[in-house]
Amino acid sequence: MNRKVSIAPMMDCTDRHERYFLRLISKNVLLYTEMIVSEAIDRGDKKKLLSFNIKEKPVSLQLGGSSPKLLANASKLGEEFGYDEINLNLGCPSKKVQKNKFGACLIKEPNLVADCLTEMQAKTKLPVTVKTRIGYDNVEDYENLYNFINTLKSTGVKTFIVHARKAVLGNFTPKQNLNIPPLKYEMVYKLKKDFNNLEIIINGGITSTDQIKNHLIKTDGVMIGRSAYHSPYLLADIEKDIFNNQNILSRQEVIEQLVPYVKEEIKKGTRMNQIMRHTLGLFHGQTGSSFWKRYLSENMCVRDADVKKIDHIMDKVKSAPKMHQVGQID
Ligand SMILES: Cc1cc2nc3c(=O)[nH]c(=O)nc-3n(C[C@H](O)[C@H](O)[C@H](O)COP(=O)(O)O)c2cc1C
Repeated sequence: MNRKVSIAPMMDCTDRHERYFLRLISKNVLLYTEMIVSEAIDRGDKKKLLSFNIKEKPVSLQLGGSSPKLLANASKLGEEFGYDEINLNLGCPSKKVQKNKFGACLIKEPNLVADCLTEMQAKTKLPVTVKTRIGYDNVEDYENLYNFINTLKSTGVKTFIVHARKAVLGNFTPKQNLNIPPLKYEMVYKLKKDFNNLEIIINGGITSTDQIKNHLIKTDGVMIGRSAYHSPYLLADIEKDIFNNQNILSRQEVIEQLVPYVKEEIKKGTRMNQIMRHTLGLFHGQTGSSFWKRYLSENMCVRDADVKKIDHIMDKVKSAPKMHQVGQID
């Protein structure tokens, strides 16, 4: 599997609609689901939680949890639903997550995590990977990170995605935890040096193809979160500069190709804004970007949109940035 560039799991962002949209821009990046908790998969509507469009592939299913049995069952189901990888979240620091014992607080319990990973790998043939942080609270020395990875490595896991900031498990909000602890890329580079046979993917604060290229000198892959969500056409630069693929769609063509998907989904009961909200940043930095955002914000929430209405709205939406340029927008 090619993990040179992946798009980070992000709650409320990387749902199946966002992934379908991003896949129109990039054929080569690896996409992740939002974190799905193994307990929810156990008790909830499995089809609703796990099904996705085959065109999104390759997609990794990110799981949260700390029950070896439930994580193993969820991994097996993930394979049955057609995912390409199972990833365990050991990096999310939110309070709710800590209460239920999953995410970053599990860095404190390497043996429990190792049990989870062993059970998961026993139940699926898919690669099982880990996403973690460089440390937590005051435990942020390299030795601790080294020992943690070394313990997990003994289960046979070969791919580690490391967000190069520690998690603060006390009073920080999730947003603060994504911004305040400083990025320490050197610790991730050192991991790659010390575990040369492992695949080490670096994550945190990466926003351009130049930065990606620099990180790829010292690591095996780069994971990008917020910058890809806020400026999705960055993926076109990634296709061109990192994967050497010049055959990419223009922004306009991306929307044109999204229209049939929107129509199909609306027939199934999806609301237009559930899809189109992910495209707000498509024209980021371009003339007409604010018109695009405004037009979408004003029109994507129409209730009971019949197909005719959708056609009209989508035609407008497709041409919104162009119309701005010729002063035609209404
Ligand atoms: C809105 C949002 C939701 C997130 N949800 C998850 C999640 O479900 N699982 C996870 O492992 N990390 C989650 N993260 C963290 C990202 O995967 C990533 O590690 C982090 O944003 C740092 O990368 P970036 O600086 O490129 O954004 C989330 C981040 C954001 C901004």
